[in-house]
Amino acid sequence: MPPAGGGAVPGAWDEYWRLSRETSALKGGGPLDEVLARFWQRVLGRPLSAGSRLLDIACGNGAVTAAAVGTGTAVAGAAGLFGIDRAEEAVRAYRARFPTGKGVAGDARRLPFADRCFDLVASQFGIEYAGEAAFGEAARVTAPGGLLAAVIHRTGGAIHRECAGNAAAMARVAASGILPAAREAFRRGAAASRGQGSRAAFRAADARLAVAVRQIEGVLAEFGTRVAGGTVQRLYQDLAHMFGRLAAYDPADVAAWVDLMAREIEAYSGRMEAALGAAMDGDGLARAAAQCEARGLSVLAREELRVGPEGGEPAAWMLVCERD
Ligand SMILES: C[S@@+](CC[C@H](N)C(=O)[O-])C[C@H]1O[C@@H](n2cnc3c(N)ncnc32)[C@H](O)[C@@H]1O
Repeated sequence: MPPAGGGAVPGAWDEYWRLSRETSALKGGGPLDEVLARFWQRVLGRPLSAGSRLLDIACGNGAVTAAAVGTGTAVAGAAGLFGIDRAEEAVRAYRARFPTGKGVAGDARRLPFADRCFDLVASQFGIEYAGEAAFGEAARVTAPGGLLAAVIHRTGGAIHRECAGNAAAMARVAASGILPAAREAFRRGAAASRGQGSRAAFRAADARLAVAVRQIEGVLAEFGTRVAGGTVQRLYQDLAHMFGRLAAYDPADVAAWVDLMAREIEAYSGRMEAALGAAMDGDGLARAAAQCEARGLSVLAREELRVGPEGGEPAAWMLVCERD
């Protein structure tokens, strides 16, 4: 079982939701968007009646809640909207997006809700971060006649492979030492331009930075400029821009930029590692389904979600269960 939170570095998701309040965790724009939209349309097809309640587990800024509202399942006032996430920043984003909804900060392994109190319990790339037992916990809060539906990271699937590529690229960026090298080169460069410090020390720092930059170029050549959501490319371009105008930059601003990039890279790597740790293989999915059955739910569907032409390739799992 993956550790709680899928092994994310503390705050990795907070950092994400603080900066990306309006973008779901899956940046999207690709064919998976359509597959997910179809899945949620199917699951959310039956409108909830007045007084019924929906729980979005590991909600982030509420991608599933938005789908429910979009399909009319949860037309304003018809359903109580609840979202729970361990990251407080995610909960803030959820509350901002759904002012009538109830965003709760908490762990999916111990839901702070009564037994059988939600008509729809849903999660998109979320519940698996809390481990297999969280499926039993989600089943516990599913009401009679209610549904539990989840889209889950799949080991070896298209998203898993992308996360593995992103994680590998980020590990190479960290190992290149580009940020400490940039900090040192800028500091020495600024001193040299004021006639302070030794020019030889600046040249040595500059040479170390050049080596690191070549490594980053290697990462971009191997993984492409869009790897890690464009973070590596942005780092490279920012650096080139600043280095080309060394004298125009206050060293304190450059140091702040280095700190920011370091935090961003650590958080991004943490999220990728968490996604890789959370992904389930077929056996894991079977055990998650068994957790639901042990809590009295019947499995309606346990399948792959595939993307791409001609039947596509596996991208994720979907699990749909019902309480009679
Ligand atoms: C990939 S994001 C998915 C967010 C959202 N469902 C979406 O589709 O945009 C995973 C989310 O799971 C949350 N998370 C990780 N471990 C958790 C846990 N043990 N309990 C609750 N939320 C958790 C993270 O904070 C993060 O917001």
